[in-house]
Amino acid sequence: MTIGHGKFGPALEQEGARAATLPDLREQASGCHRCDLYKAATQLVFGEGAQGASVVLVGEQPGDREDIAGRPFVGPAGLLLNECLHEAGVDRSRCYVTNAVKHFKFQQRGKRRLHAKPNADEIQRCAWWLAAELDLIHPRLVVALGGTALYTLFGRSVSVTKARGQILQVPTGPPVLVTVHPSYLLRTQKRPDAEMVRHQFVTDLHQIVQFCTEA
Ligand code: URA
Repeated sequence: MTIGHGKFGPALEQEGARAATLPDLREQASGCHRCDLYKAATQLVFGEGAQGASVVLVGEQPGDREDIAGRPFVGPAGLLLNECLHEAGVDRSRCYVTNAVKHFKFQQRGKRRLHAKPNADEIQRCAWWLAAELDLIHPRLVVALGGTALYTLFGRSVSVTKARGQILQVPTGPPVLVTVHPSYLLRTQKRPDAEMVRHQFVTDLHQIVQFCTEA
């Protein structure tokens, strides 16, 4: 799959580092120095799930808990994602779950490590791995959880607010269902419309079931 600005597809071919299986790809990625994020992170947090998964969920980057566990979406945002997937009728264990960026980027504040947004260069460099994951999995549907995932998949900024709930066609890859990132629900849970925000997220996720049943 060509991802982002189109340069990642050729890059995959040029460097000849294609793996035949996800465990091989993960092994290759564990030595990734494509950007500097590996230096401060504890470890690579690669995608998780079966190569035969029909649905790939793409988040932004691992958080503090994921960095320590080495697994995607196991912290607070992941628990909320699990709950909402369950409410939407989606079995997470049948999906492949990954991130646009595979190392935790943070700012150290005392003992705390605060999430820092990956920049365009870090996202573009890491898109190489997402493209390789998608090439091996060939999912029927990709779910972009928030703006960073969407930026990686389209190679340009696409408004999550405008596109959420839609399934966008991608010329060189599987269609992309757009929704918010689960951490948005965490950030808005004290707002009066928190229930509605959560309901909308579950409704977006339910489209996975509808799409996979119809397709
Ligand atoms: N947020 C993400 O985008 N990914 C994770 O794995 C955890 C939190």
